[in-house]
Amino acid sequence: MTARIINGTELARSLRAQAAERAARLVERHGVKPGLAVLLVGADPASQVYVRNKVKACEEAGFHSVMETLPPDLSEADLLARIDALNHDPAIHGILVQLPLPGHLSSHTVIEAIAPEKDVDGFHVANAGQLMTGKPQFIPCTPYGVMKMLESVEVPLRGAEAVVVGASNIVGKPMAMLLLQAGATVTLCNSKTRDLAAHTRRADVLVVATGRPGMITGDMVKPGAVVIDVGINRGADGKLCGDVDYASAQAVAGAITPVPGGVGPMTIAMLLINTLEAAERSQAA
Ligand code: GUN
Repeated sequence: MTARIINGTELARSLRAQAAERAARLVERHGVKPGLAVLLVGADPASQVYVRNKVKACEEAGFHSVMETLPPDLSEADLLARIDALNHDPAIHGILVQLPLPGHLSSHTVIEAIAPEKDVDGFHVANAGQLMTGKPQFIPCTPYGVMKMLESVEVPLRGAEAVVVGASNIVGKPMAMLLLQAGATVTLCNSKTRDLAAHTRRADVLVVATGRPGMITGDMVKPGAVVIDVGINRGADGKLCGDVDYASAQAVAGAITPVPGGVGPMTIAMLLINTLEAAERSQAA
């Protein structure tokens, strides 16, 4: 069997076009452009690329965007003051602080400083709680994008066995919540899970977000499963690769996401959607 490829680039393009249309309507009706502020502390090269791509996507969709690159030794008080100013800036509807932060800054304290109604990453405990109780205001962009990809290939989730590998606050935990709410039976694996393959081999839907290149191989995949690879790693050959060994997994899976061109573009598309919704809500309020 050769797996169907779930093309994230194409799906993201259509979602971004929809976001651009909705943004144009907001400008027409209320004279308001959705506004996103992206803060990057330090000069991590991978983060710089991600942040630039986010800002570029905003501009292409007709959003207002502000990108601020802040010095790596910025004090927590100065970062919190900057966030406070953005919380009160009416031209800004979404605030994103790129993670990871330098070690002297507490990501928890920083995220909690963002006004929940501008937390387009959905990382604030208020938004995490809303998601957990089934009333999400902002769904974290990467798991939100994964759900859209599963929807696009009409994967039945009710009663399905879903296995998520990686239990981060950014991807794994919200992913598990979304799959649970869609009616799947969810197993959330972490770095201490014993006999990982015994879990992954039972998965009708397998979502992998570990940051460990190629850790899921074809022999760990159930024949016909839908495999979603969230990883973006730089391989020894300098090329981008996922957490799934694509060559062996695609021979077993029913559908699979590639890296690049899979989940990555979807994360950005969902950030636009969340920012747009924040802007729309600010007008409805
Ligand atoms: N670092 C890796 N992924 C993300 C994300 O979705 N949002 C933020 N703010 N930082 C990240």
